[in-house]
Amino acid sequence: MPSAIVTGATGILGREIVAALGKDSETWQTVHALSRSQKESYPPHVKHDFIDLTGDAKAMAKQLHGIEAEYVFFAAYLQKDSEQANWDVNGAMLKNFLDALEMTGATQKLKRVILTTGAKQYGVHLGPPKQPMEESDPWIEGPGRPPNFYYNQQRILADKAKHASWDWVVTYPNDVIGVAKGNFMNLGTSIGIYAAVSKELGGELVFPGSEAFYTSFDCFTYSRLHAQFNLWAAMEPRCSNQAFNVVNGDTESWQNMWPKMAKKFGCKVPANQFDLPLDKDAGSVMDLAPDPPMAETAAERGLQGKVAPGKVEQRIDLIKWSQRSDVKKAWQQLAAREGLEKDGLEKATWGFLGFVLGRNYDIVLSMSKARRLGWNGYIDTWDSLSGCFDELAMEKMLPRTGS
Ligand SMILES: NC(=O)c1ccc[n+]([C@@H]2O[C@H](COP(=O)([O-])OP(=O)(O)OC[C@H]3O[C@@H](n4cnc5c(N)ncnc54)[C@H](OP(=O)(O)O)[C@@H]3O)[C@@H](O)[C@H]2O)c1
Repeated sequence: MPSAIVTGATGILGREIVAALGKDSETWQTVHALSRSQKESYPPHVKHDFIDLTGDAKAMAKQLHGIEAEYVFFAAYLQKDSEQANWDVNGAMLKNFLDALEMTGATQKLKRVILTTGAKQYGVHLGPPKQPMEESDPWIEGPGRPPNFYYNQQRILADKAKHASWDWVVTYPNDVIGVAKGNFMNLGTSIGIYAAVSKELGGELVFPGSEAFYTSFDCFTYSRLHAQFNLWAAMEPRCSNQAFNVVNGDTESWQNMWPKMAKKFGCKVPANQFDLPLDKDAGSVMDLAPDPPMAETAAERGLQGKVAPGKVEQRIDLIKWSQRSDVKKAWQQLAAREGLEKDGLEKATWGFLGFVLGRNYDIVLSMSKARRLGWNGYIDTWDSLSGCFDELAMEKMLPRTGS
């Protein structure tokens, strides 16, 4: 029976990988869940070990004494203030960890490393990409492009594997839906708090992002489905040294999900929500890269000169919204009445959610590559989001809502 090591065991994506391995004690003999904190208890075959991945390889090798496995799931992530710092720190965490496994001799047993990255692979944060995004699309790098730490991590992984007896798989999830205990940095918590406060303020649920994105398409990744994908890809020989998009398998839009959100939180979508007069300072507009990712291949697609840069247009800028006194008061009332975590409004990631909802272009990822190899995992995005709200309510991060 194989063993596994999971880094980032408490994170939104890593936590579900640990849970999936934890549920299957018939297949997985031992699971080492690694992070700097422990946030929950585990079944007997899952052992939590504390590690600081920002240490050097020697220090980590000491901490990893006696820890070995056939499969490593690397889902640790440390967010920094600049793309260069993300490149440096997240690259070093992966490299030093792999070096440490070499030092302890654990790599002798190792068969595969599965690294979690994301759809920033395609430069979705820089502007419109080519649609749909496929794993063979060119990397968005070179003069004028900001560093992308996923590229650094993937190169480190591939270089190490070249000189080793193990191989690798990389995943590209997008707009993750999931729950991480005590971690407010996720889409579900922020959008749930926005809807719950809207209910408290009278029940009108106005889409805060751009009208363009409301009617565009997006693909989401349920963290539990991503975990299942990790387990499948670890065992599938044809996934060797390959990267894969991992999204739910449907293509969604807010025009479809917003009315469902409104119903769940007991709100109403105003019929003319994009024509409602708003305070003149309520919104914000941000220009993205002058050369969007799509520009990389525009000429070969016959679209030279036709690709406009992207924008992030928030009709209601969520950072400003979260600082409004009526919003703060409504959250305090709601949190006190329902016994919720008081600092939820403060901790929720409004900048991130504002960016996600304000983009003015589609985000569609193809699942064809994995499907060709036999992957048939799927979940309806609204079902996963609705289930996520219910779980967040159980964690006292959101109020209880309807079905
Ligand atoms: N969340 C999303 O919406 C999303 C979307 C697409 C892609 N991704 C990508 O998915 C990957 C995983 O991100 P995530 O969102 O799951 O991250 P996350 O929820 O922020 O979790 C990060 C994990 O890394 C651990 N960690 C951080 N610093 C560490 C350190 N110095 N030593 C040891 N462990 C450390 C954290 O545990 P402790 O704090 O307990 O140490 C936690 O378990 C990243 O590459 C991210 O860019 C995320």
